[in-house]
Amino acid sequence: MAEIGDIDKRVGLLLGKMTLREKIGQMVQVSYRGGGISDDLKHRLREGRIGSMLNGVPPEINAEIQRIAVEESRLGIPLIMGRDVVHGFRTIFPIPLGQAATWDPPLAEACARAAAGEAAAAGIHWTFAPMMDIARDPRWGRIAESFGEDPYLTSRFAEAAVRGFQGKDLAAPDAIAACAKHFAGYGAAEGGRDYDTANIPERLLRDVYLPPFKAAVDAGTATVMTAFNEIDGVPTTGNGRLLRGMLRDEWGFGGFVVSDWESVAEMVAHGFCEDDKEAAQKALAAGVDMEMQSSAYADHLESLVSEGAVPGKLIDNAVRRILKVKFGLGLFEKPPIYAASSSKAPSRENLDLAKQAALKSVVLLKNKNKILPLSKERSPIAVIGPLADDAYEILGTWNRDGRIEDTVTPLAGIRKLLGDSAEIHYAAGLEYSRSRDTGQFARAVELARQSKAVIFFGGEEAILSGEAHSRACLKLPGAQSELIEEIAGAGTPVVLVILAGRPLTIGDVSEKVDAVLYAWHPGTMGGSALADLIFGIEAPSGKLPVTFPQTEGQIPVYYAHKNTGRPPDRTPLTMLEDIPRRAAQSSLGDAARYLDIGYLPLYPFGYGLSYAEFAYGGLQISSDKIRRGENLRVSVQVTNIGNVDAEEVAQLYVRDLSASVTRPVKELKGFQRVRLKAKQTKTIVFDLSAEILGFHDGEMRYVVEPGEFHLWVGGDSRADLRAEFQIVE
Ligand code: NOJ
Repeated sequence: MAEIGDIDKRVGLLLGKMTLREKIGQMVQVSYRGGGISDDLKHRLREGRIGSMLNGVPPEINAEIQRIAVEESRLGIPLIMGRDVVHGFRTIFPIPLGQAATWDPPLAEACARAAAGEAAAAGIHWTFAPMMDIARDPRWGRIAESFGEDPYLTSRFAEAAVRGFQGKDLAAPDAIAACAKHFAGYGAAEGGRDYDTANIPERLLRDVYLPPFKAAVDAGTATVMTAFNEIDGVPTTGNGRLLRGMLRDEWGFGGFVVSDWESVAEMVAHGFCEDDKEAAQKALAAGVDMEMQSSAYADHLESLVSEGAVPGKLIDNAVRRILKVKFGLGLFEKPPIYAASSSKAPSRENLDLAKQAALKSVVLLKNKNKILPLSKERSPIAVIGPLADDAYEILGTWNRDGRIEDTVTPLAGIRKLLGDSAEIHYAAGLEYSRSRDTGQFARAVELARQSKAVIFFGGEEAILSGEAHSRACLKLPGAQSELIEEIAGAGTPVVLVILAGRPLTIGDVSEKVDAVLYAWHPGTMGGSALADLIFGIEAPSGKLPVTFPQTEGQIPVYYAHKNTGRPPDRTPLTMLEDIPRRAAQSSLGDAARYLDIGYLPLYPFGYGLSYAEFAYGGLQISSDKIRRGENLRVSVQVTNIGNVDAEEVAQLYVRDLSASVTRPVKELKGFQRVRLKAKQTKTIVFDLSAEILGFHDGEMRYVVEPGEFHLWVGGDSRADLRAEFQIVE
């Protein structure tokens, strides 16, 4: 990679040759609308009035567009080609929420690395990923694209993905620039409605929503994207406190900031700007270097500069940052920079990786009487459900380049694994996940009756999660619950496999079946991985990266909540049905919970079963007092008390009992994935630094305050193996 000093020099030289119009051109990103290269596009490219293009540019056209920019414009500055390579390019890995369920950041890094290689070979330089918005509302469709509800877990995945996309050398032929998005608070949209207002007090923003971005910046992300939402009256795209104050000044981010799609111009609809011209001025002043898709910069920056409303220096600085990334990517060197091959079929290596990621992402939620793993002798087997043999839906949201011909459906995976050893019958039962047509029910139920086990693949189609796809009702869509109920009524054991982009409220259906595997949208090799898990080639080891609510009315429900003055468990719970008529108010127990469902979620954060069982013991800490700047060494013994080899994710949580501002009841501060043979014990060690036990105080300073802490280690956020320590002056 070129030396930074060298790049700065080259950027300076180039900038010195540029006209104002050419400079503004670098700040303009437009999408390709199909239908070839229009005369207008050619003209703008030749005049150097476009700096980047995004999405949907077919490789051949991509190459020609790039050729025009490089060979026919005055200064020959290459375009940076961006695309949403979110969880794979041609090889599709599990959706990010599924990747987070692996609790295996190095694995996610490898997935991003592989995706970068495939995308770079197709002429892509820049992905709009990873998304690191904290998502505590499963109604929000983009929870699928998130790493879940927790800042610590999300931060580890954010930095891993950045490292994976960018590799060690951004200029390497298989590296692409990452984009940390959406800065910031987009996941806190009111009511889980995409794009809606986020109300986030500054401390919560700093302690919960921003740490993943800081981690991505520290990992060297080349770019950051703003968000669609406003926070406290200011759209993030016009938010100088966030973009200049925190991102650049506090954290020293040196890459460039791109707006989200038309989010500069959308500041007019927000009611934050009178017109596009004011939007251009406010976005640039706030720190947006490149405008995605809307044309406020292209249309107005020149006149804003000549009127003196925008200092030319702001433009120079923005262009300098953009050019720096272009030089860093080696776009001026790569010979010939515009050559792009079309998307190649996935390599064996990438498919193996996709299978590995899918295997580890699946969470076993229920396994009554150890029905799973199914024995191969259990024949015939009925494979039922709208998602059992659908090669498209299993790929999930943001699948732009994955192909169904590469994809192994669950049915295909099971057939391949079992070969002739078992009789397999298949019925979709419902044509697609939202269907209410019960016409195929009878055949599905009949198959169930004739079989020794039913494996039902249901959930959500890909289109039901992702951008703009929020749902108010989180039950299984269509008539799936009815179908599952009828099938369960046939008396054959039922294994329910849910493929979905978010937590669904599956409490009712779970009670009717024997086992539940939550598989998210697992990608190209999902079917093969599921077959291995169902038949015990591997044991499930995924853990929930997000709390599962019992019902929508309980949202938001997340493990790291505050205690309140009246904690939910401070008095015995009286449920609605047990309250006598005209009961006295005081008999209900005044506590932070619901009369009808209490306070517990359906499944807690960090939860996930295995075919083995794990026992935790021998928790030891190196000292019961530490100072700032010191580490606490925590060791614990984990034993596989089951009969099969399996992996477990040991999780470490802490609680700061009393502080100058209230602290959550539990916070994840460490985790480790361990492989344990049957009956094997391993001692695992966490080095917990006092530094990560801090928070933002009344003056918004990050402080590590002395005081008492509790610490737990276990297999999920209910972990109860506890130690106590203090931070002392
Ligand atoms: C809008 C989305 O919010 C953003 O995440 C994405 O990268 C852009 N569209 C480009 O597709």
